[in-house]
Amino acid sequence: MLQSSFRFLFILFLGFSLPLFSQNKVMLTAVPAADAPIVNKHIYGHFAEHLGRCIYGGFYVGDGSSIPNTKGVRNDVVAALRELKIPNLRWPGGCFADTYHWQDGIGPKKERPSMLNIWWGNVKEDNSFGTHEFLDMCELLGTEPYLSANVGSGTPQEMADWIKYTTHPEGTSPMPELRAKNGRKEPWKVKFWGVGNEAWGCGGNMTPEYYANIYRQFSTFTTNWTNSDKLVRIASGASSNDYNWTEVLMKNVPPSLIEAIALHHYSVIDWGNKGSATGFSEDQYFTTMKRALEMEELIQRHVAIMDKYDPNKKVDLFVDEWGGWYDVEPGTNPGFLYQQNTMRDAMLAGATLNIFNNHADRVKMANIAQAVNVLQAVILTNEEKIIRTPTFHVMKMYAVHQDARLVPLKFQSPDYLNKQDKLPAISASASIDATGNAHFSLVNIDAGKSYELELDLNALGMKTFSGEILASAKLQDHNTFEQPDKIQPKAFKDFKYNKGKLTLAIPPFSVVVLEGRP
Ligand code: AHR
Repeated sequence: MLQSSFRFLFILFLGFSLPLFSQNKVMLTAVPAADAPIVNKHIYGHFAEHLGRCIYGGFYVGDGSSIPNTKGVRNDVVAALRELKIPNLRWPGGCFADTYHWQDGIGPKKERPSMLNIWWGNVKEDNSFGTHEFLDMCELLGTEPYLSANVGSGTPQEMADWIKYTTHPEGTSPMPELRAKNGRKEPWKVKFWGVGNEAWGCGGNMTPEYYANIYRQFSTFTTNWTNSDKLVRIASGASSNDYNWTEVLMKNVPPSLIEAIALHHYSVIDWGNKGSATGFSEDQYFTTMKRALEMEELIQRHVAIMDKYDPNKKVDLFVDEWGGWYDVEPGTNPGFLYQQNTMRDAMLAGATLNIFNNHADRVKMANIAQAVNVLQAVILTNEEKIIRTPTFHVMKMYAVHQDARLVPLKFQSPDYLNKQDKLPAISASASIDATGNAHFSLVNIDAGKSYELELDLNALGMKTFSGEILASAKLQDHNTFEQPDKIQPKAFKDFKYNKGKLTLAIPPFSVVVLEGRP
């Protein structure tokens, strides 16, 4: 009934822009709960692979570079990622991880052997960026490292030694002695350990049964040497809707050997025809968003399997690769996966992060792929120049949710219609932080319609509000090296607050984040 009257009014007002008092009204109710989960800051994690210009040129230029750097790491990239409060960084892959032998990347650079990066362009990898460079960089960034160990072509010994080398206290065994000889006496803090990557594909083309056994073997030889943070061992997880993978792993790996299981899902229109990152139609936009919103069902179904074997939610779900994947920018190396980033990506990021927030009881980490110059990057660089992409701005606006308590929101989204298909137009999540401030992240993915949102916040008792909006004239709009700030958040004041109800008009393809203060 309500739906059909929406449609009637839509036809009536077709062609007009819809201001605050339009009939496209969505009622949202905040339902705070003392036992609601904390939105783990690690949901806002990143990923840096030895792929294209992510590490070399992106993060690392070497200390001889004219680009301002600290021990070879770009100062501008560090500053930008610190703005995001980057909670963790996954490294060195990706597919690269299962070809990487960490001992090749330590010691004097001149003596480090080179290798061929077989997954990404067959380029020479000189190993000048290795364990010390990465872990020191994490300290600069103020972020937690997540090391992805080589299972596909490595050994349990290699992984066990890497853990010893990085975390074993000084001077008590050969690995920390080697570390000290290479210039670092104190251990680093490395809690997150990936046991292989995409074991079903580039990580070894294994069956889930075979990988479950291999996982058990590798995991057995991992040791927590620091007595502080417990190691978090992450099993290589499913690709998108491969529910059998999760089922077999959960069934066959004993709880004592696993802390998290991964999931990878890329929003790709069609693997054979991914389409341009900037020159896309509304139909292509719609399909990208459809793929992105599949994350909701993927999480629900993988979690249902996990709940069956682990009803007390001891094993976390880490979506440690996600994002949009398009054709590379014309003229760039196809193996480098360098793509531009538009308002489409801002929609993808905003809607996906809302899904993660709303599943904070099981999703404890997520890593957008990738941080710099690869796929849905938050930063693009060109020599000394840097761009903060629309995705960067969304992640910065959403950083307020990190480690805040989720406030569940009840609402029914209107449909964003495209031909015979439809998607929920509005996505939202909310949280309340340790200081008592509440934050609401609202996304309207509809390419043509604005909606009036009415948030019933009576249960929260907020008094004053402020907000920011990320919007632009066209979905295809993006920041360029010539115009790096074309898209950036602006103050959002177009709301009213009366008797516990906050009302605002959210424009087409925009992200709004509001802060409420008690
Ligand atoms: O992020 C690019 C690649 O995508 C990663 O190396 C791999 O894990 C995934 O298939």
